[in-house]
Amino acid sequence: MKNIIFIAPPAAGKGTYSKLLQDKYNIPHISTGDLLRDEVNKGTSLGQEIAEDMKTGKLISDDIITNLLKNRLKEEDCNNGYILDGYPRNIAQAKTYEEMLASLNKDLGLVIYLEVDKDLALNRALYRVVCPNCGASFNTKIDAFKPKEDGICDICHHQLETRKDDNEQTFLKRFDTYLENTSALINYYQEKGVLRKIKSENNDTNEIMLNKIRGVIND
Ligand code: AP5
Ligand code: MG
Repeated sequence: MKNIIFIAPPAAGKGTYSKLLQDKYNIPHISTGDLLRDEVNKGTSLGQEIAEDMKTGKLISDDIITNLLKNRLKEEDCNNGYILDGYPRNIAQAKTYEEMLASLNKDLGLVIYLEVDKDLALNRALYRVVCPNCGASFNTKIDAFKPKEDGICDICHHQLETRKDDNEQTFLKRFDTYLENTSALINYYQEKGVLRKIKSENNDTNEIMLNKIRGVIND
C-alpha cells in the first residue's frame, strides 16, 4: 500500500476519511492534530506550551511537529504504509518531510487534495463532536455522520466531546491559515505528479467518499 497524505482545509473530512481507509487497508491513520491534542490532554510540558496556540488556530512550530512525527513514523505499524492527515502544512514542512522519508527509507506515495466549500466546512465544524480516545469525528446535525448513540463513540464507546478550536472565530482563523500556508502545497505536489483531487460534497456518505478515494488511489 502507498503512503497517503491528505491535504485539505479544516473540517473537510480528513480525519473521517482517514479512519475509513485505516479500516479498509489496515494501515495507521496519523494526524498531527491528534498527536498535538494528545500532548495537551496528557498535560505534558509540551502540551502546556502549545495549548493556547491550538485553541486559537495558530500553527505549531515546525520543530515540534517534526520531532513528534518522526518518532511516530519509526513505529513498526508504519512499515506497510500509513495515512498522514494534517501534515505537511507548508512548503518548509514538505521539504523537511522529504528529508525524513529519505532517512527512514520511505516513499512519498500519493497526495490527495480534498476540496470543500468554506461555508460547508464551517457548518461541519460547528456541529462536530470527536472522540478524545480514538480520534473519530462525528456530527450532531448531519444524519449520515451522527453517532449511533448520542454522545458516545461508535468505535471505542468513549464519551464524545467538542474540540476547543471548533468555534466560528477560530475556524475562520484556521481556514485563513490554510489558505496562506497550506494551499501552496497543491502546486508543489502537482508539479511532482503525485497529486490527486477529489471534492467532498454536502450529501456524500462514507460509501460515496470511499469510492471517490479508491478511484484516485487505483488510477
Ligand atoms: P487538525 O486537527 O489537523 O485540524 P484541521 O486541519 O483544522 O482539520 P480538522 O480536524 O478540523 O478537519 P478534518 O478535515 O479532519 O475534518 P473531520 O473529518 O473531522 O489541526 C488542529 C490544529 O493543530 C491546527 O490548527 C494547528 O494548531 C495544529 N497543527 C496540526 N498539524 C499541524 C502541522 N503540521 N503544523 C503546525 N501545526 C499543526 O470532519 C469534520 C466534520 O464534518 C465532522 O463533524 C464530520 O462528521 C463531518 N463530515 C465529514 N465528512 C462529511 C460529509 N461528506 N458530509 C457531511 N459531514 C461530513
Ligand atoms: Mg481532523
